[in-house]
Amino acid sequence: MEQGKKVIFSGIQPTGKITIGNYLGSLKNWIGMQEEFDCIFCVVDMHSITVTQVPSELRKNTFDLLALYMACGLSPEKSILFVQSHVPAHAELTWVLNTIAYVGEMNRMTQFKDKSRKHADNINMGLMDYPVLMASDILLYQADLVPVGVDQKQHVELARNLAQRFNSRYSPTFVVPDCYIPPVAAKITSLQDPTAKMSKSDPNENAVVTMFDDKDAITRKFKRAVTDSDTEIRFDREKKPGVSNLLSIYCGFTGVTEKAAEEEFAGKGYGELKARVAESVIAALEPIQREQKRLAADKAYLEAVLKTGAEKAERIANRTLEKVYRKVGFIPRAR
Ligand code: TRP
Repeated sequence: MEQGKKVIFSGIQPTGKITIGNYLGSLKNWIGMQEEFDCIFCVVDMHSITVTQVPSELRKNTFDLLALYMACGLSPEKSILFVQSHVPAHAELTWVLNTIAYVGEMNRMTQFKDKSRKHADNINMGLMDYPVLMASDILLYQADLVPVGVDQKQHVELARNLAQRFNSRYSPTFVVPDCYIPPVAAKITSLQDPTAKMSKSDPNENAVVTMFDDKDAITRKFKRAVTDSDTEIRFDREKKPGVSNLLSIYCGFTGVTEKAAEEEFAGKGYGELKARVAESVIAALEPIQREQKRLAADKAYLEAVLKTGAEKAERIANRTLEKVYRKVGFIPRAR
């Protein structure tokens, strides 16, 4: 890691299919950060098993997500790309941080409460501990900035609190991280309920466009997208959430400004808007999908990338973990 550059850490779960919302909201923004920051991008498989997974699918999704990271432009030369479970320090730091995290504050986490409702038959300790594992991800690398969507802000806030608590109880150890909301963070909503976030766990297929959807599926889903009974095409998140969402997607994939998009579609019909948005998505995804497929077929290469990534990550993570173990009073293992 270079001196003076800020450290960025972020991750995505290899669960379900990454949506165009995940892409425009996070992945796409990460690409540019690689020049300015020391970046670490993780495939957080340990987080995934807090809800029930099919093991063979988890394995496939992990490789697929790594291949997607790279197809989108994350470079294993510029950044550290790795899989969470390859670096044991994540689990090890989680144990120590568990001892300074209060049951009360964990119980109040919004996502835990939501997921407990959704998975009422499997409210496991891991689900409750999810935010502490995420804090470990961030704190192990002394990350300055954590690019996440608004739904993850509370988790980054917990990481800050745990860092400060540990630092004051023992002595300065962790960098206290900040949320990094990118300057043009697109917020993409469901095509069927444009007031709700586009979520990869949405059971309604038509609500979500994934990074793996083909041309026909993309065209069909946009055709069925919910709009309104008005006819005017303009940005108005309050009154016209559906149309605004379509415009946001168009801007995200074409790079056109909101104002230019409104001008472009002035006087046009919703049918044309939907078709043009679908075209812009198809055009942008086509080269990414082709590259993703090529990479996913080359297991040996992906494994080599992960091996190097885990080695680089581990060096940084272990340095932090050793400090933590020393500070809490664990005696060092003789070498
Ligand atoms: N919880 C995050 C999400 O669902 C994923 C995640 C896990 C993460 N560990 C992280 C994001 C560390 C940023 C930093 O989006």
